[in-house]
Order: sequence, then structure tokens, then C-alpha cells
Amino acid sequence: MRIGGIQVDGRLFLAPLAGVTMLPLREFFAEHGASLTHTEMVSCAGLVRDNAKSLDMLATSGRDAPLVVQLFANDAGVLVSGGEVVLRQIGGRFAAFGINMACPMPKITRNGSGSALLRKPELACDMVRGLKALGLPVWVKIRRLEDDADTLRFAGGLVRAGADNVCIHGRTQAQRYEGLADRSIIAAVAREFPGMISASGDVRTCDDVTEYLGMGCAGVMAARGALSNPFMFEEWRGEFRTRDGKISELVNFSLRADEISGEHKALVLMKRLAGSILRNEYGSAELRRLAMMSTSLGEIISILDRRK
Ligand SMILES: Cc1cc2nc3c(=O)[nH]c(=O)nc-3n(C[C@H](O)[C@H](O)[C@H](O)COP(=O)(O)O)c2cc1C
Repeated sequence: MRIGGIQVDGRLFLAPLAGVTMLPLREFFAEHGASLTHTEMVSCAGLVRDNAKSLDMLATSGRDAPLVVQLFANDAGVLVSGGEVVLRQIGGRFAAFGINMACPMPKITRNGSGSALLRKPELACDMVRGLKALGLPVWVKIRRLEDDADTLRFAGGLVRAGADNVCIHGRTQAQRYEGLADRSIIAAVAREFPGMISASGDVRTCDDVTEYLGMGCAGVMAARGALSNPFMFEEWRGEFRTRDGKISELVNFSLRADEISGEHKALVLMKRLAGSILRNEYGSAELRRLAMMSTSLGEIISILDRRK
């Protein structure tokens, strides 16, 4: 099926997670059922300046496809220049451009990027039009605004400007990641723009996915739910692993992450995923504490293996 101009094999996607959705993690999720992945947040100002860190974030292996390259900027010209750098580097590897209009963190919003753009609808639409002219589909991720009518108007403006998909996180900028995500406003926008809206917020179980899709959303993005259950995409597809099976998949992941990103980053990512195994069992609190304190991959793997 096609969603937002991208050929996908399902409707449950891995949400963008800055600092987490590095290449090995994207590969893991794509190979374990996610129908689409996102890069980390890439600064267009950084790309234009040839900043090595920003350029490194474009690395992909093709095993993480279909992949949306998530860009941020506070200016349409800089965004488009960043998009041009992406296309020159490895444009053929990305299924779509993503524009971040959702990040609430002050280091991003203080410069007018991320969710600060929610207060600048004209600039937001200019960004979509500019990027769209480069030829790839454009996906935009926004947040709910305080006022529902404003959310509807903002999302509608993006769609009319040419956005192929608008993902709405049902929390406001002020809520950041706290409290419950509001589903009713996402449903209202999805009704207005059928096939164009994806949902984000409190996606933890298959029931959450079913509910969002039932509201008419084209796709659903799993974020923290995917980290606390890395096998949720497979479960959504009706595939279930034993605990030993899950452990061996995570061990394989740690080896691949070590190979691509080095032991430090591999350990950081393993700590994100290991909790899913060490949960709800006798002694699991202590094992999780030990896992979080691990200083090497060998150590965290031996803690997981102890549960076999
Ligand atoms: C660690 C972390 C990093 C995130 N990074 C991004 C990001 O780079 N871009 C973005 O649009 N949203 C980002 N988000 C928001 C998520 O994509 C998602 O919208 C949010 O967590 C709500 O979903 P959830 O309640 O299911 O976790 C991030 C969230 C977390 C927890």
C-alpha cells in the first residue's frame, strides 16, 4: 500500500526518536516489523555548513528502509538548502523528507525550530512548499495546539501546501511528554483529511494501534512503546517470540550496533531495549538495576543470558 507517497507494507511505523533512532536501532525495528523508520533530527544549518555530526546522521544501510530523513530548521531557505545537501549525499536512499515541527525542547524552540513553528503557520507552509519542490514526498510531524480549531487549521494548511502526510502528536508543546495524548483532535483532523494523517501518542499496545486506525488515521507511530516492547511491531503482525528468542535477537542487535556505532552507543541502545526482557519476573528489579549500570556489552548480555 502507499501512504504519504511511500510504498509501505503496513501502517505501524517507528516514530522519530532523537538520540535513539540511530542506524542499528532503525535496522532492528525495520527487520522486526516496523513498516517505516525515521532518522534522528538532522539540522539543516549543520548540513549546509558541512557539519560532520549532521552529515553522519544521514548514514543508512538500506536495511532500515523505508526511511524518512527528519530535518529541522527555522527558515525555509535553510531547510531547502539542507534538503539539497541530503539529495546530493544519498538522496536515493530516503523515501521522504520529514520536517520536525514537534520538538518542544528549549534548545530547539529557542531558535524558532521544532514546535516553535506551530506559532508560524505561514512559514510552516512555505517550508512544505519549498521542500516539496525538490521532488521527494514531504512528511511533517506536529503537535496538538492548545485550541482544537487551530490544530485543524494548521494541519489543513500543511496538507494544502503539499504535505503528503501530517503526523499529529496529541500532546501540546507545554505538555512535552507528560500526561495523556488527546486522541479526539487527531480523529477530527483525520476525518477532515482522509488518508493524510498519522497519529502519535501513547502507542503501547495493539489496541492503541487499532483505535487510532479505527479513527481513520492512515498510519500510527510507536515511540516509547516500541522501546519498552521492541517486539510490538511483530506482535501487531501476529508474530510472537519466546523469551529466549527475544534475548537472542537482542544479543544479535547488540553485536550489529557495536559493529556500526561502537560499543558505547551500542550499550546505550541496549540499555533502552533490555528492560523489556527484565520485567515482571522474580528479581527483575535488581537485574534491571544491574543492566542499567553495565559498563560493557559483555556485562549486559550476561545479565540477559542469566534469565534464559
Ligand atoms: C527520547 C525521545 C526522542 C524523541 N525524538 C523526537 C524527534 O526527533 N522528532 C519528533 O518529531 N518527535 C520525537 N519524539 C516524540 C515521539 O516521536 C512521539 O511523538 C512521542 O514520544 C509521543 O509518543 P508516545 O507517547 O507513544 O511515546 C521523541 C520522543 C522521545 C521519548
